[in-house]
Amino acid sequence: MGSIELMSPGMLKKMRTACQLAADTLVMIGEHVKPGVTTEELNRIVHEYTIANNAIPSPLNYRGFPKSICTSINEVVCHGIPGPQVLKDGDIINVDITSYTPTRRGFHGDNSATFYVGTPSEEARNLVEITRRCLEIGIEQVRPNGRVGDIGAAIQEYAEAKGYSVVRDFVGHGIGRSFHMPPNVPHFGSRGTLARMRPGMVFTIEPMINIGDWRCEVQDDDWTVLTADRSLSAQFEHTVVVTREGCEVLTDRKGVLKNSEDVPWADLGPLSCRFAAEQRANQAS
Ligand code: MF3
Ligand code: CO
Ligand code: CO
Repeated sequence: MGSIELMSPGMLKKMRTACQLAADTLVMIGEHVKPGVTTEELNRIVHEYTIANNAIPSPLNYRGFPKSICTSINEVVCHGIPGPQVLKDGDIINVDITSYTPTRRGFHGDNSATFYVGTPSEEARNLVEITRRCLEIGIEQVRPNGRVGDIGAAIQEYAEAKGYSVVRDFVGHGIGRSFHMPPNVPHFGSRGTLARMRPGMVFTIEPMINIGDWRCEVQDDDWTVLTADRSLSAQFEHTVVVTREGCEVLTDRKGVLKNSEDVPWADLGPLSCRFAAEQRANQAS
């Protein structure tokens, strides 16, 4: 299955820096998601923020990708290319941010979230909240001696019980000195299969969940991935490391994701959204 790197504490320290920048950037960009904004504008803001932080946006020129982030709206599953498209009320948009830092001999940190543009339909809102939960459920499976297949099995079980489907063509991935490396982390499959998780293994979990069929097609630009049936799709992503105790979410956030975690209907789990949960508890008291 190819060898899976285990990071030393020294490497992890640098990996944490890259992941924290990616997380900070995602929090920052959430504030800019609103009707009337173009995806090109979101791209520019992230690009400038990344450079100002002595880092490089990993997507730019990666296998020929032309921009610094991926912006995937509504029926776009992933790898949407920023451009002149204007966000409109009721859209959902995944912004996928990967930071490479420092600018040489560095590490990549990868995370993404789906944001609400204005007020979503009930259909969109349910999809996004179930997808948010899918990532949490995947993270709950991460522990030493567990199997990578446990992650996808738990996600698929939950998503399908809700009547949704799990994208098969794109999977989570090992990450570190390279953007994509072993292992593959499918968001579907069977418990007890694939690699055994070991402390120091670093990978992403990034479920893409569709309202309709799981099948995808790639547009003529060779990047933009759409649902084959044009049903809505949502995605959330974190980079995690297997620890002796269980799991550390390397892209955990120091703040709330505006236009995603701060909405009253956000279904916040215990793991990745604790700041939003805290904020909500404070507001209630
Ligand atoms: N960030 C995406 C992922 O989660 C990969 C984007 S590849 C790009 O793996 F070239 F489109 F940027
Ligand atoms: Co990503
Ligand atoms: Co990724």
